Amino acid sequence: MTTITGDGFTLRPWRAEDAEALARHANDEAVSRALSDRFPFPYTRADAEAFVVGPVAREGFAFAIVVDGEAVGGIGQTPGDNEYRIRSQIGYWLGRSLWGRGLMSRIVPVFCDHLLEHSAYERLQAFVLSGNTASARVLEKSGFVLEGVHRRALIKRDEIHDIAMYARLRDKPPFVEPDPEDDDE
Ligand SMILES: CC(C)(COP(=O)(O)OP(=O)(O)OC[C@H]1O[C@@H](n2cnc3c(N)ncnc32)[C@H](O)[C@@H]1OP(=O)(O)O)[C@@H](O)C(=O)NCCC(=O)NCCS
Repeated sequence: MTTITGDGFTLRPWRAEDAEALARHANDEAVSRALSDRFPFPYTRADAEAFVVGPVAREGFAFAIVVDGEAVGGIGQTPGDNEYRIRSQIGYWLGRSLWGRGLMSRIVPVFCDHLLEHSAYERLQAFVLSGNTASARVLEKSGFVLEGVHRRALIKRDEIHDIAMYARLRDKPPFVEPDPEDDDE
């Protein structure tokens, strides 16, 4: 399974033994507020245990962010279906005790470079809730461009929000594995 390393972090598949750290870092209203309702609050030990062995983790689309040997956050992608298979949507979060150290600004570009290098995606996209300046900055610094705002697009904690759509497009042709049949020699 893939492991991606960068300055001060490792991205690797989730493991059953991450459940305790996952529940500790994820069980935070300030973290879940910016994320999909699939990321619950409170985030219980049972939620964590189910996630680390569940389909999202198993299918290889979700990575644990590991700092100093501990899973302190997550990053992942949701590939588009059918005619949307040339795009993927990314999402990420970090435990609050690690915010503001420039970590996600280093992680997102490395993760996106990896995705573009190992896929045929033409487009990576991300939705940011109105007011989430830190996440918008992370995306801008990772080569994403603001394409527009979906007005009053979702309701979170009884409050209606706009969401900003950011995207980064492939700037190099996808890598294609050479076909040994095509070898003339
Ligand atoms: C958004 C999040 C991932 C940012 O991670 P991080 O490692 O703390 O971000 P960084 O330290 O790399 O900072 C990124 C930028 O945001 C700025 N920033 C950080 N916290 C901020 C805040 N509270 N308000 C405004 N800007 C902030 C930083 O100054 C930096 O910008 P700069 O380079 O122009 O100075 C983290 O806050 C988080 O997990 N939040 C909850 C989940 C979430 O929002 N996920 C994204 C959903 S789209």
